[in-house]
Amino acid sequence: MTNGWTKSTWRNKPRIQMPDYPDQNLLAGVEGQLSKYPPLVFAGEVRALKRKLGAAAKGEAFLLQGGDCAESFSEFTADTIRDTFKVLLQMAIVLTYGAKVPVVKVGRMAGQFAKPRSAPMETVGGVDLPSYRGDIINGFDFTAESRIPDPNRMLQAYTQAAASLNLLRAFSKGGYADMHRVHNWTLGFASGDKAERYREMTNRISDTLDFLTAAGITSETNRDLAEVDFFTSHEALLLEYEEALCRIDTTSGMPVAGSGHLIWIGDRTRQPDGAHVEFCTGVQNPIGLKCGPSLSADDLKTLIAKLNPENEPGRLTLIARFGAGSVGDHLPRLIKAVQEEGANVLWTCDPMHGNTIKSSTGYKTRPFDSVLREVCEFFAVHNAEGTIPGGVHFEMTGQDVTECTGGLRAVSDEDLSQRYHTACDPRLNASQSLELAFLVAEQLVGRREKLAAAM
Ligand code: PEP
Ligand code: CO
Repeated sequence: MTNGWTKSTWRNKPRIQMPDYPDQNLLAGVEGQLSKYPPLVFAGEVRALKRKLGAAAKGEAFLLQGGDCAESFSEFTADTIRDTFKVLLQMAIVLTYGAKVPVVKVGRMAGQFAKPRSAPMETVGGVDLPSYRGDIINGFDFTAESRIPDPNRMLQAYTQAAASLNLLRAFSKGGYADMHRVHNWTLGFASGDKAERYREMTNRISDTLDFLTAAGITSETNRDLAEVDFFTSHEALLLEYEEALCRIDTTSGMPVAGSGHLIWIGDRTRQPDGAHVEFCTGVQNPIGLKCGPSLSADDLKTLIAKLNPENEPGRLTLIARFGAGSVGDHLPRLIKAVQEEGANVLWTCDPMHGNTIKSSTGYKTRPFDSVLREVCEFFAVHNAEGTIPGGVHFEMTGQDVTECTGGLRAVSDEDLSQRYHTACDPRLNASQSLELAFLVAEQLVGRREKLAAAM
């Protein structure tokens, strides 16, 4: 542990975006209870993920990170977990095909409960109430009582995360993730150029699987076709919860966040001297850092020095989220800052959080075209700079929701009201997610050619 860090030193730093619990005794009781519970993830898994992310930083793997904006207590069912997991695996097959390198699969799942908000208060019909901050903190219902932060919600979040992980581990290793099963998607896309290209890629993947089977390489002979490694991640926002689940790894003697494999620092809480950065400096997990338009090159350099002083591969993932049309204004200057430090980082693209708008019908939405455009801009800047676009980060669900507009099975502003279920930001539905994977796969073919030429 460096510089007197302990799992509690964040308490001496400025804290923002965290609740003030009215009942401190209740809070202390919950923290005490959680700190005796088993961690949700183990240090060996965390180290394995770090190695894989280190490979992704070199272009030898590709990171796919996705899931809910905010997991909720009310939408917690086996079906929602299964469907999101399945779509992530389908996306991973398409990406593997494009990149021709392993795809590292990380869910925004089993712990993604706490939300930063742009306003502390919310006004509806002339009534002001504290904003909803995620089910781990307060309730979504617009009543004064439900908006009071309740420490007991941490225990429910822990239980839900544990049950989700249990199912995800079973799906990953128990046969559900078999590539032959996962690859039976139906492309309900309309006709047109794009749909044709995607159908062609699908056919080629099918042919490849058929060829492998004919050659005797099946799920029985090769476990890699039947099983996957699947990791969890969330924003480490609620530090009381993170501290209570922090454990010492018995192998290395170092602290590990036991709440999920990868934890990230949000765009609103990345102050170099703030509480969130302080907590993350001391745990061994891979750390994500959201990089939005307001991040200065100097702050990025300071954050890199704090979060990855040993320049360890796979430790730091920079998640660019600038918005379509703005990537060229920000990514080159941040890439330059990274290069000036000689820093080892994995660059990934979150094309969601810079593209949120209000629809003509009053819904918070994201146009699918803007999401696609930001991904393309991200790849184009990396190509121009000679650096490696190493992954993507999406808010998505396996359900057939209508939260983002557009896509080949087009969702219009008027459609948004039909199945708008998110507890926070609008998510891509199953069809939009798969479509996005095809687009990224096409970009990855270009990346492959570039990497081969550089060898
Ligand atoms: C998020 O990932 O849900 C989020 C709030 O992102 P950001 O911190 O980039 O705004
Ligand atoms: Co979000």
